[in-house]
Amino acid sequence: MEPWSAFPTGDGSFTFYSSAFQSTFHSVSGAWQEAEQKFVAPSGLLEAPSPLHVLDICYGLGYNSAALLDTLWRERPESKVDLIALELELEVPQSAHQLGGLKHWPLAESVLGRLASNCEVKTDRLHAQLMIGDARKTILGVPRQWADGIFLDPFSPECCPMLWSVEFLALVAQCLKPTGTIVTYAASAAVRTALKLAGLVVGPTPPVGRRTPGTIANWQGGLPPLSRQESEHLQTTAAVPFRDPTLESDVETLHRRRIDEQRLSTLEPSSHWRKRWAIGTGTASDKS
Ligand SMILES: C[S@@+](CC[C@H](N)C(=O)[O-])C[C@H]1O[C@@H](n2cnc3c(N)ncnc32)[C@H](O)[C@@H]1O
Repeated sequence: MEPWSAFPTGDGSFTFYSSAFQSTFHSVSGAWQEAEQKFVAPSGLLEAPSPLHVLDICYGLGYNSAALLDTLWRERPESKVDLIALELELEVPQSAHQLGGLKHWPLAESVLGRLASNCEVKTDRLHAQLMIGDARKTILGVPRQWADGIFLDPFSPECCPMLWSVEFLALVAQCLKPTGTIVTYAASAAVRTALKLAGLVVGPTPPVGRRTPGTIANWQGGLPPLSRQESEHLQTTAAVPFRDPTLESDVETLHRRRIDEQRLSTLEPSSHWRKRWAIGTGTASDKS
């Protein structure tokens, strides 16, 4: 059996379902919608001056990059883009292209198909590299202070905590230009704390396909502020981040380490916060 299979979503697109991570690659409410509205629109990249430097972490089917390139070239056909994409499994973007997953973004389809085949493409307006392997290692090949925009799109902290740790997000932050922006669908207190520990300012992005927002982060601030409810969440045990000092820990170790730190923490239990705000037990960080 393939480790992933095509899975329909609510906006007519398809995504993949990973049996290893027991997760869909996109929100089931809509993969096109997620790429366009949760990543590309809040990133500010459509308004940024050319040439754009973009880091796509967890490239997957390539939807976030495809949505960016297609929208950008529709509005400003002369824009030049330098793209670095990090992905564990080469077969994921290859299968997505073979199945026609990028047809929704015709200006990007063929060039990203070539990227999936060759791991590098150069045209008049795009230089793209696809680095295959564990992003905890491949990120070391991204130049410091290089990116105008970073799409941060791993599976949820629950099933892929290694790509949300303090140490990994510190490396991600090092890749960001002083004027750059990171966007992610995740809004958990642990993720926001790790971004803040890297020195970044965090704010919410508008909710898309569910009630909870995503997160935008930059060095300079000027972002929409977190709500009082979100700010108070950062003062609870839910805000204890994942730690991966060797950048080699497995899922179980990362969760155990965090639970140990939460037990010793003097922060308010997050159950008190949930009760105060009459919130259920679900997290705001998964793909559903
Ligand atoms: C939520 S999906 C990303 C969806 C993608 N951004 C898209 O638009 O299709 C997560 C991706 O992370 C990849 N992945 C999982 N662990 C990884 C790791 N350690 N390093 C790099 N990529 C990883 C998976 O193969 C999967 O493609």
